Amino acid sequence: MKTTQNVFKELTADEAAQYVQNGMTLGFSGFTPAGASKETPKAIARRAKEQHSVGRNFKIGVVTGASTGDSLDGELARADAIAWRTPYQSDRYLRQSINRGETRFFDMHLSALPQQVRYGFLGEVDIAVIEASDVQPDGRIVPTTSVGASPTFCRMAKKIIVELNEYHPKELLGLHDIYEPLDPPHRLPIPVTNCQERIGSGFIQVDPKKIIGIVRSNLPDEVGAFKDSDPTTLQIGENVATFLAAELKANRIPKEFLPIQSGVGNIANAVLSAIGANPGIPAFEMYSEVIQDSVIKLMQDGDISFASATSLTLSNSVLQEVYQNLDFYKSRLLLRPQEISNNPEVIRRIGVISINTAIEADIFGNINSTHVMGKDLMNGIGGSGDFTRNSFISIFTCPSIAKGGKISAIVPLVSHMDHSEHSVQVLITEQGIADLRGKSPSERAAEIIENCAHPDFKEELLAYNAETLDGHTRQSLRHAFFMHERYLSTGDMHPPNVSPEAS
Ligand code: COA
Repeated sequence: MKTTQNVFKELTADEAAQYVQNGMTLGFSGFTPAGASKETPKAIARRAKEQHSVGRNFKIGVVTGASTGDSLDGELARADAIAWRTPYQSDRYLRQSINRGETRFFDMHLSALPQQVRYGFLGEVDIAVIEASDVQPDGRIVPTTSVGASPTFCRMAKKIIVELNEYHPKELLGLHDIYEPLDPPHRLPIPVTNCQERIGSGFIQVDPKKIIGIVRSNLPDEVGAFKDSDPTTLQIGENVATFLAAELKANRIPKEFLPIQSGVGNIANAVLSAIGANPGIPAFEMYSEVIQDSVIKLMQDGDISFASATSLTLSNSVLQEVYQNLDFYKSRLLLRPQEISNNPEVIRRIGVISINTAIEADIFGNINSTHVMGKDLMNGIGGSGDFTRNSFISIFTCPSIAKGGKISAIVPLVSHMDHSEHSVQVLITEQGIADLRGKSPSERAAEIIENCAHPDFKEELLAYNAETLDGHTRQSLRHAFFMHERYLSTGDMHPPNVSPEAS
């Protein structure tokens, strides 16, 4: 065990894991795989396996900014070491454990997580494990590629383990803007009035006495590759860009444009590229949660002028491009705590246009972002609710069909609801655009079926909509899930008289 700068103990990851006991709650840095600690959770997973092999219980509560990488959620899930987990995940092993009922998961709006930790709603945080690009003897910690909820974990945790990841340069100082609001009744307005405004400091200040030690690492973020855009995602992107360009032309978006929030995943990446390429849309700023590869490309092309978010979720080659031109990007990128990047007050005030992806949408405009067939968790709500409810225009996108065409993403009634018709203003698939603003439920149904549903499913959706002739929202409680039920019993939502080959 060596000492860093004569202040902090240097620990191996396995030594650090010895501080973790069964039943503890750990707050890990990381928002997506960006900035997630890696060596320490792998060592905790090894410790869990050892403990299990001698018949001892060993499970911990895991709180993070959002999803993480395989070294954290994957390793801990495979070691059966996670008793409960919040606020978001996207790991296939953890997902299976959650859907088997073996890990308790509660899905939370990401902006609300830090304050709920401070309010004590999730119990005490025993240890914070924070990936850093630098740590100073006086307790200043500079995060790596994300901020997430780390400032709050550091303040609330009894002890802190710093994972000093030398893959990231110390020159990241200045990329982050750390600000923690006071809690009610003392909270003040969040003073962010535009995407570029800095309101805090470039580092997390902790009491150095809380730092148990430093674990050194030199590992890239475990960001997965995107699927190549296909004709469907390209068409969805085109439709979003066409919609926004028309809104601008009609003066419903101010001529200087408004900040964009774009969700996570393959579709969001393609949508952003299409917006950037549209000649009718000026260079724009982002007030978002995640900065994906497409943002960097658009910045290089001059289509995005500034991006504020809480994580830099980039593939390693793109991250290296950023590091090689760090001064250029530090004047155009800003990472905030998720409580600020996703803050409802700020989003509403600065007029963010939100674009998120649905798993399914119903004909009235309700959105399911999280559950397959109403039952199995996919990832979680993430920040989609923070943005959708508060945005200037809230847009949802999805392909009209899923799973090789066997599933219609447009259904009579969503099998799980994350965003209600009251918050969803525009629905866009590769088939077209449904502008739901100022429309009654019946008008919404007509617009969504006509413009967004796949042709294979239109006839049945129209028949369903015509089935109930009274009521404000013409829903049939007896038949609302007939398409889901058909899929669950036959493996295909298609009506018997429509050949799936038509898809
Ligand atoms: N029924 C069953 N499965 C469906 C489906 C449906 N109606 N729609 C999509 N899926 C499946 C896809 O088949 C795919 O499965 P696979 O991984 O086995 O191939 C998976 O969901 C992901 O879909 P994909 O088409 O690749 O889209 P994506 O990568 O853009 O992810 C979400 C889409 C909805 C899962 C993702 O955006 C998400 O988790 N959203 C919720 C959180 C969020 O919005 N965060 C952003 C806030 S800033």
